[in-house]
Amino acid sequence: MKIFPQLPGLVHGGDYNPDQWLDRPDILEKDIEYFKEAGINCVTLGVFAWAAEEPTEDDFQLDWLAQIMDRLYQNGIYIILATPTGARPAWLDEKYPEAMRCDERGVRNHHGLRHNHCMSSPAFRDRVRAIDTALAERFADHPGLLMWHISNELGGYCYCEHCKYAWQEWLRGRYHDDIEELNKAWWTGFWSHRFNDFSQIEPPYANGETALLGMNVDWRRFETFLATDFMRFEIDTLHAVKPDVPVTTNFMELFYDYDYNYMKEFVDYISWDNYPEMHRTEVSDSRTMIERSFMHSMFRSMKPDRPFMMMESAPGLVNWKPYNKYRRPGVHELISMQAVADGSDTVQYFQLRKSRGASEQWHGAVIDHIGTDDTRIFKEVAKTGADLAAIAEVTGSVAKNEAAILYDWDNRWALDDAQMLSNETKNFDETCTNIYEEFMRLGVCPNIISSDADWSHYRIICAPMLYLLHDGIGRKIADFVKNGGQFLATYCMGYVDKTTLANLGGFPGQGLSEVFGLKSEEIDTLYPEDNVNLRLSDQPLKPTDAGKPEWSSSAEPISCFDLTKVTGKSVAVHDYEELLRDVTADVLAIYENDYMAGTPAITRNAYGKGCAWYVAARVDQDDIRPIYEEMLDNAGIDHTLLPEGLEKTSRYSDNVRYDFYLNCTAEPLTVENVSGTALLGPAAEGGRLTLPPYGVAVFKIGVRNSV
Ligand code: GAL
Repeated sequence: MKIFPQLPGLVHGGDYNPDQWLDRPDILEKDIEYFKEAGINCVTLGVFAWAAEEPTEDDFQLDWLAQIMDRLYQNGIYIILATPTGARPAWLDEKYPEAMRCDERGVRNHHGLRHNHCMSSPAFRDRVRAIDTALAERFADHPGLLMWHISNELGGYCYCEHCKYAWQEWLRGRYHDDIEELNKAWWTGFWSHRFNDFSQIEPPYANGETALLGMNVDWRRFETFLATDFMRFEIDTLHAVKPDVPVTTNFMELFYDYDYNYMKEFVDYISWDNYPEMHRTEVSDSRTMIERSFMHSMFRSMKPDRPFMMMESAPGLVNWKPYNKYRRPGVHELISMQAVADGSDTVQYFQLRKSRGASEQWHGAVIDHIGTDDTRIFKEVAKTGADLAAIAEVTGSVAKNEAAILYDWDNRWALDDAQMLSNETKNFDETCTNIYEEFMRLGVCPNIISSDADWSHYRIICAPMLYLLHDGIGRKIADFVKNGGQFLATYCMGYVDKTTLANLGGFPGQGLSEVFGLKSEEIDTLYPEDNVNLRLSDQPLKPTDAGKPEWSSSAEPISCFDLTKVTGKSVAVHDYEELLRDVTADVLAIYENDYMAGTPAITRNAYGKGCAWYVAARVDQDDIRPIYEEMLDNAGIDHTLLPEGLEKTSRYSDNVRYDFYLNCTAEPLTVENVSGTALLGPAAEGGRLTLPPYGVAVFKIGVRNSV
């Protein structure tokens, strides 16, 4: 499925701010020449251009934009047009101060910066409606217009009176106008925090109520709803003038504020901004690339039937990391091609021309202050443009993934907010990425999905630290396994329900202890210096072989194996270990030392036609590789161990598969069993492909019934 039927191939483009250069027609003219030279076929216009588009209230000045759009289009360059609402002109804040957000103490901001509007302010929405309508009336039929881009990087919370009222209304809806239902869900008997009426509920001000964890997670859900409502308001405004022009908004990495799995439904295409920090001393480039691949996969999985867009990335460097390092030669293309390899049909940049002043004047750009096309970065961008053209035929192809990792925003929020474990080491995102990395080492690219997603395409699902269970998830997991799925869960599984109330009767809740054949009784937090190990048993152990634990008669149901009789590899445990009880599952590993010694640490439970796996302690995933291999074998998914730092992913279209190979290291890498015709990069000789440092290759293979 092609995102832009108007274009023959992949999009190569980015944010362009001619509004900052209107007094330099010579530069604007030269830009177009350079764009063509670099294979730029699309620009994103109008991000933050409100003051140029409406310099004073209701005085819409759009001729300059029309001229630029016409000129670009005449030169074969298409346009994604942004609504400018990510930053406000001074006149607007002066006349309508309620457009400015209140901070978490309820104090109104001053004018300035960006991404800081109040999304519930009626006056602000009126002004948004006016500018969006003016843009749509003027440009919705422009032949060069590909898509609307809504605002920019929606984010943040406002704590003003309008938002407080909207929050109370949202709560009334969620709790059926029944304050007792809310009191129960939030456990407000605690510290006498009971409410008599919805009107008493304030936002979680920094100097107010933050002890009700159910409230905190609901607040973030509400903020997601509000941002989505604002985004939809903009979409509806544009579509009221002309329906059917596709829309997107740029998401941000593993952004914390909003649940993108909720927002994703209301845009036509998913786009996101990708700013990897390469060449770090403490993190290898290949790990950085894995983290990025994880994010690409997450955005791809939001609409798995179509390509996504990498809407921003930096040519050369950014200017807002702790250390702003230039990417080494070749890395620009690697980062760009990784997006395509993982399912993007666009490689877009922030920014095409570097601004002359203000806070982003030193951010990387295709055209630098020197103003020539013979810079290293320009040449690397132009090479990427040519290489994207060489693989144009991949446009519209999609990935097919049969393994998935669950990633729920409210789980993440609730886990971080829970007063337990160690705030130093909860590391939910890292835990998910580690599992992703292990699959990628085995040549399998997982999707990253919400627990509410459609699971029917998957044969393996992993749920790292799925602390909070949405309604009905226990049943869904049980059915998935019963019907032949491999489901792997870890420590912290199913402790609370969606309101953050603890599940009673043993974890994991919602009947899952039957699916996994165990209960979790304690979770212990380790110091980094603690030495705890588990032993991967050479043979699966039957729980019936276990004796009784020695340390307490009250803990009788906990199985305890004789350590002297169990042989196998010793594996270090980090950060967390759970004490399991009532184990009926096969035991694959036991704790070796500390007070849980001899008790089960990793289990496998045959349930229906599938298996439910439980990893009760945090370990390095490559230490338990045999478990992944067995799951993949059980699921009938091909796997091969790839060299470290080599990423391989595939995209499919009618009877064709495209295999992408990326060398994410500064050393040459060789990979075996490569087949197909090389579309890009070195050819494989006798199935053996050697990629230069940071090198990329794309192969095309004919397959049957690929989509
Ligand atoms: C993005 C933003 C752009 C620009 C860029 C700099 O987050 O959308 O407008 O600021 O960062 O890296």
